[in-house]
Amino acid sequence: MSSQKRLETASNVLELRLRVRLWRNKGDRIALVPTMGALHEGHLALVKAAKVKAERVVVSIFVNPAQFAPHEDFSRYPRDLAKDRAMLELQGVTDLIYAPEGRDMYAQGFATRVSVDGPARGLETDFRPHFFSGVATVVAKLFLQCAPDFAFFGEKDYQQLLVVKRLARDLDIPLEVIGVPTIREADGLALSSRNAYLQPEQRKIAACLNRALRAAGDAARAGTPIPQAESEATAALLNAGFDRVDYIAIRDAETLAPLHSLDRPARVLAAARTGAVRLIDNMAL
Ligand code: PAJ
Repeated sequence: MSSQKRLETASNVLELRLRVRLWRNKGDRIALVPTMGALHEGHLALVKAAKVKAERVVVSIFVNPAQFAPHEDFSRYPRDLAKDRAMLELQGVTDLIYAPEGRDMYAQGFATRVSVDGPARGLETDFRPHFFSGVATVVAKLFLQCAPDFAFFGEKDYQQLLVVKRLARDLDIPLEVIGVPTIREADGLALSSRNAYLQPEQRKIAACLNRALRAAGDAARAGTPIPQAESEATAALLNAGFDRVDYIAIRDAETLAPLHSLDRPARVLAAARTGAVRLIDNMAL
């Protein structure tokens, strides 16, 4: 493994654009994988999928203050660039890490906010009202900074994936947004950087989230009315030990609009809290 070459890092947009221009001149296609670091196998699945589509893969690592509310975990969000770098080097398919500083992304006087409606309405927005405009703002910047051919996002954050697709389409940003299926632990828990916050007892509770999604989907498919399938799944989560269920909802897979029946592709999505840890998950029906 010692033959692994040290991964180059661009720490500002000029360095990023310089590198990308050299690749473009050679005719290489470029894929961007935006992350907030604290990388795990879920992120690595995105990187692997990116390498299949493009000659060059850029992984951005930036804990984006604009998508955290003041009471959220921005300051304690896990940050370990050396560890992230080591994981990417070991995997061996990333060409460049883009790790800009906060003051470069949001320079003095920064005053723009990108706001997406449509798929951003409801669900996460009901509980984290500033979240998607924070995501849309940083993702728009990353798209314009890197100008990739492809950008990869996880289905784990399904509403975010739809918001980012909408953003790229609405602003005519010339790239393809590609969704990658969720990577899970053996017991079904979706990998997440925030799982590191879970105490052993909470970790057991966390595994019930995916089971409840599956149960809600099975019930709805078996003919249980959608509101009943949702409320039974909520009760199951509270019963399993979750302290609060923000939502468990069966929605149109393309628009996230509420559904009265399963007459089109659907998705079941949930967010629940155990202690201070908020987990989200979703699956196709
Ligand atoms: P982050 O939570 O670091 O996630 C980066 C990407 O990894 C997202 O597209 C997310 O959906 C994907 N991902 C996370 N866990 C996954 C899993 N278990 N399986 C598959 N993919 C997974 O999402 C963000 O960062 C930020 O909001 C960002 C888009 C970078 C904007 O700041």
